[in-house]
Amino acid sequence: MCGIVGYVGGRPALDVVVDGLARLEYRGYDSAGVAVLADGKLATAKRAGKLVNLRNALAEEPPPAGTLGMGHTRWATHGPPNDRNAHPHVDCTGSVAVIHNGIIENFAELRAELEEGGHGLGSDTDTEAVAHLLEDELKGGGDLADAMRRVCGRLEGAFTLVATHTGSPGLVVGARRNSPLVVGVGDGENFLASDVAAFIEHTRDAIELGQDQVVELRAEGVTVTDFDGRPAEVKEYHVDWDVSAAEKGGYDYFMLKEIAEQPRAVADTLLGRIGADGRLHLDEMRIPDQELREVDKIIIVACGTSYHAGLIAKYAIEHWAGLPCEVELASEFRYRDPILSPTTLVIAISQSGETMDALMAVRHAREQKAKLLGICNVNGSTLPRECDGVLYTHAGPEIAVASTKAFLTQLVAVYLIALYIAQVRGTKWGDEVFAMVQLLERMPEKVEKVLETMEPVRELARSLAGERCVLFLGRHVGFPVALEGALKLKELAYMHAEGFAAGELKHGPIALIEEDLPVVVVVPPRARDVLHDKIVSNIQEIRARGARTIVIAEEGDESVEPYADTLISVPAVPTLLQPLVTTVPLQVFACELATAKGHDVDQPRNLAKSVTVE
Ligand code: AGP
Repeated sequence: MCGIVGYVGGRPALDVVVDGLARLEYRGYDSAGVAVLADGKLATAKRAGKLVNLRNALAEEPPPAGTLGMGHTRWATHGPPNDRNAHPHVDCTGSVAVIHNGIIENFAELRAELEEGGHGLGSDTDTEAVAHLLEDELKGGGDLADAMRRVCGRLEGAFTLVATHTGSPGLVVGARRNSPLVVGVGDGENFLASDVAAFIEHTRDAIELGQDQVVELRAEGVTVTDFDGRPAEVKEYHVDWDVSAAEKGGYDYFMLKEIAEQPRAVADTLLGRIGADGRLHLDEMRIPDQELREVDKIIIVACGTSYHAGLIAKYAIEHWAGLPCEVELASEFRYRDPILSPTTLVIAISQSGETMDALMAVRHAREQKAKLLGICNVNGSTLPRECDGVLYTHAGPEIAVASTKAFLTQLVAVYLIALYIAQVRGTKWGDEVFAMVQLLERMPEKVEKVLETMEPVRELARSLAGERCVLFLGRHVGFPVALEGALKLKELAYMHAEGFAAGELKHGPIALIEEDLPVVVVVPPRARDVLHDKIVSNIQEIRARGARTIVIAEEGDESVEPYADTLISVPAVPTLLQPLVTTVPLQVFACELATAKGHDVDQPRNLAKSVTVE
């Protein structure tokens, strides 16, 4: 997820663009850049690191003053964060500049075609190919908007693109597919941005661009068409948020926004990794297939929520890839004597890539000569640099301390890795992998469906704000989900909460059950009949002892109704994928309960987003 700003009008474009980027830094902040069109020339400046680095560079070498410009704050997906990979990207002649948010799935073949055609591409990004494709389309004159429409017809994936061209003075062109782009409509000036926060101080009149649309932005007006050039219906709206709310997309907290972004985050993490042939392509992991075939044990190391993702990964890896899989708290792994060898694959899961416990575990494994694979959400962070390979999640920046969308994308990443190893080792046939991949591709809509039915969960949470304790039960992959639900409640509502394997109840914890004690139970799909029946028995046991049962079960599961004081239904999905839908109600529950207690859910007490000390 990146921040994009475009401007054309009467003000100094540089000021408008850089101030707009500052409002969008939460969308990505590993590098930033601007382009200004002045006196028929494009001036660009870009720097790795936070926006302040770019500001300093612009202060040292101010570009020519112009009233047309665009800018970008990057959240790297392809290519590490550095000056070279920062946006804007230009063509061979330096007359076309492009900025981009999203993932162009077919960029590798486009890049190969361009290089065969004599283009020199200097970055590692997917975006740069677009600048050169536009260059080809503009050869011999032509209109930037037409060129953009033709190029968009060749792109696959999710993209918001904004481009300028020295041959098209006074014109900024934008295009979008599966990635946001809004127009700010001013008086004698117009704006483009990833969201309204970038221009809300100048105008509150906006147009949300639709799917597969191209916008031509001029000072005197805005034209919108589809990718075929047909005029498109647009709807203006008035933004009544203040700037702070705008940065949160209108939500009161980043956490609420990030919970809502989960369908997109899951979809983005799948993008570019599933071939047209239905096979998985994870070359980016940079671990040769033969080495994966030689792996005889997998150990996962992580902390907190990422550790819970590892616990779920264990079930998937053992079931699909047929490999033994241990999951260790990173802080413990480092102080025991794990039995590792060059055929052990250690997978380190970390949203931030800077958690010291995880980094120390990785270094410990490195000393033992194990193979290292990272799962990380921050391109260019420390963890990927210390692993042999990495599979990035594409959740975009996660600002709230409590991890939500990063967790769901970590699950997608571990499912992809488990299926890929199964594909490479042949423990699952191609059609079995393909069938599961197809189910994975439907998960964004399933998560969206859960989000649409969360009002009763919010009401329940508010009604429990005075409780002292909530227990969480689950079996199989539902057990790590119970642990995650408990962690969310602890870190947000500062309440005692505990997750248990439901089968463990009778070995002690059932003594905790008392009248009206809220107990959340995550019920597996009915397809896992033995597992399902066992947990229904567990619900009966705790209800018989006075517990207030809050049951999460797949829609249509009538067997739990007689024992559920509150029933939360989620879409029916395969057992191993169920955490993608059962976790979401627990995130909403914890967030709403903490809010009802008056807590700042983005910045819970005593916690930091990344724990960079041991
Ligand atoms: C989860 O909500 C917490 N923020 C915390 O447990 C977190 O998951 C843990 O600190 C690991 O962070 P990482 O994924 O960045 O390594």
